Amino acid sequence: MSPEKENRQASLREKLVFAQETEEDAILNLSLRPGSIGDFVGQKSVVDNVLIAIAAAKKRDEPLEHVLFSGPPGLGKTTLAHIIAGEMGTKITATSGPAIERAGDLIGILTNLGEGDILFIDEIHRLSKVVEEFLYPAMENYQIDFTIDKGPYAKTIKFNLKHFTLVGATTRSGLLSAPMRGRFGMLYTLDFYSPEELVQIVKRSAKILKISLDKESAGEISRRSRGTPRIANRLLRRVRDYAEVKNSGKVDAATVDRSLSMLGIDQMGLDGLDRKVLKAIIDTYKGGPVGIDSISATLNEEPDTISDVVEPFLLKIGFLKRTPRGREVTDAARVHLKIPPKRESQKELF
Ligand SMILES: Nc1ncnc2c1ncn2[C@@H]1O[C@H](COP(=O)(O)OP(=O)(O)OP(=O)(O)O)[C@@H](O)[C@H]1O
Ligand SMILES: [Mg+2]
Repeated sequence: MSPEKENRQASLREKLVFAQETEEDAILNLSLRPGSIGDFVGQKSVVDNVLIAIAAAKKRDEPLEHVLFSGPPGLGKTTLAHIIAGEMGTKITATSGPAIERAGDLIGILTNLGEGDILFIDEIHRLSKVVEEFLYPAMENYQIDFTIDKGPYAKTIKFNLKHFTLVGATTRSGLLSAPMRGRFGMLYTLDFYSPEELVQIVKRSAKILKISLDKESAGEISRRSRGTPRIANRLLRRVRDYAEVKNSGKVDAATVDRSLSMLGIDQMGLDGLDRKVLKAIIDTYKGGPVGIDSISATLNEEPDTISDVVEPFLLKIGFLKRTPRGREVTDAARVHLKIPPKRESQKELF
């Protein structure tokens, strides 16, 4: 790993409520990830639609149409891809946009897929143009063309593939090209979970991890998880650590509050970076509007981190507003940060 990338990962790791997957998550995910549709909480309309499509495909004895899941990190896109494979009773091969550097990388993967198998491509918006174009005929006609040799001896060979299903996942559906999007038969957007849904997820995880958790504690963790199951699971683990060291393993609402506050997670679930973004907009840009690139330059953070991780939740809870000229901090955010609201008359003075 390059030193630059390592530094970046270290800085991301400091953000506890960061929704992207850490190594610790990846290991624990194996036990906490719902293995069947019955264990998958929430996203009801997506789940209902997927179940109907699966039932219909099975009835016709056909593979499922290509599916695209979009939405912020940690909401269950990868989980759903695995669940679909389980429900269809087919094999799943997982890869990701940045991992496929050349079209050639895909030939082996595609030709090894069996009838009805799932090819899961995470971060599909990060496929290169060339790879994308190579995928089009595979998605449409289950055929790939590849060229062997160069110059006057070049020959194009057509290769027929089995009828597979591509499941794509993206945190940035806006960055997906229109021709790519158009080749998916089903497109679903996952939304943040309600506190009630997160309570169910936290309780299930606590049971698997053998943590005894009362109702208030489960509620408190859920309210502070930024609507994201991955974060809920992570906070649960941090609370358990704290309880083991400070409260002889007993988890109660006071322990939850103390441990999460110690980690800099406030009552709304915002962490240091969320608050830094809001404060930077207020202090440096008079509350906005301001573009993501300016915010990221001010804070020395990756623009992707701000737009994928920080911004969606702040928009969701109404702390940020999107305007044609950029992002603006709302009065609700100022109240939360205990900063006096911006008055209309004040605005006119500037
Ligand atoms: N609906 C759900 N019910 C229960 N647990 C869930 C649900 N959705 C997600 N989780 C938990 O959250 C974790 C993260 O989910 P997943 O890896 O599927 O997210 P993702 O959307 O693919 O994120 P990314 O964009 O970072 O790849 C899972 O391992 C699982 O433990
Ligand atoms: Mg994923």
